[in-house]
Amino acid sequence: MRRNIVAGNWKMNLSFELADDLVNDIAEKLDSVELNADVVICPPFPYLELTSDLAQESNFFAGAQNVASFDNGAYTGEVSSKMLASMNVDYCIVGHSERRKYFNETNQEIATKITKLLKDDIKPIFCLGEVLEERESGKHFDVVQKQLEESLFNLTSQEILNVVIAYEPVWAIGTGKTATSLQAQEMHAFIRSLLDKKYGNEVAEEISILYGGSCNAKNAKELFANKDVDGGLIGGASLKAEDFLAIIKSF
Ligand code: PGA
Repeated sequence: MRRNIVAGNWKMNLSFELADDLVNDIAEKLDSVELNADVVICPPFPYLELTSDLAQESNFFAGAQNVASFDNGAYTGEVSSKMLASMNVDYCIVGHSERRKYFNETNQEIATKITKLLKDDIKPIFCLGEVLEERESGKHFDVVQKQLEESLFNLTSQEILNVVIAYEPVWAIGTGKTATSLQAQEMHAFIRSLLDKKYGNEVAEEISILYGGSCNAKNAKELFANKDVDGGLIGGASLKAEDFLAIIKSF
């Protein structure tokens, strides 16, 4: 059965103290909620031990925001999938549009990262999505198809079952401009149809496809009600325990 997932991407925010407060607050609140979704928290690397330790005894999973495309060794500033695995990290975001834009990540590099994560039993949360000009010129389906094919379609059926996909239209990230429920469902159904063609219906139906981009406590319910929207990747609204909880409770 495919899973509902709500993942918080803290990006490069919060001090150590605030991160500690936030994750403890979320964990406490999650204790008294009947969950219909898996919850994942992705802090900046230096705070990972805070969340991964607490995740062992709480109702959420530990996630990271990025991983190196190398195994280990002389790569100053990088963090490998083996390091993440050794800290009990369960999920890792890859291919976020901010990584593509500011760090020039390509579909091929993202494919390498995904393969490394899967080898170390970490579930990649693979982000894809079009920029505004691509949507306005009607190229959004082609762009998403290329991202999907170049970063994921080298995987076997068994491997892809451990991947979570996050459709994040770049024009909706941090802008307050959410994709409409119709736009989200349309793209999610398209992504699932491509998975179906490549891997068959049974596999396609098992894969969780999350929506990301200005998803908040007000619009989550409508977005998550769509047949092919299996949750959200939440940026800004994951930095406030109450907002994040309200999104989780939208299922
Ligand atoms: P946002 O970010 O919710 O702040 O728009 C989402 C994301 O970038 O994952």
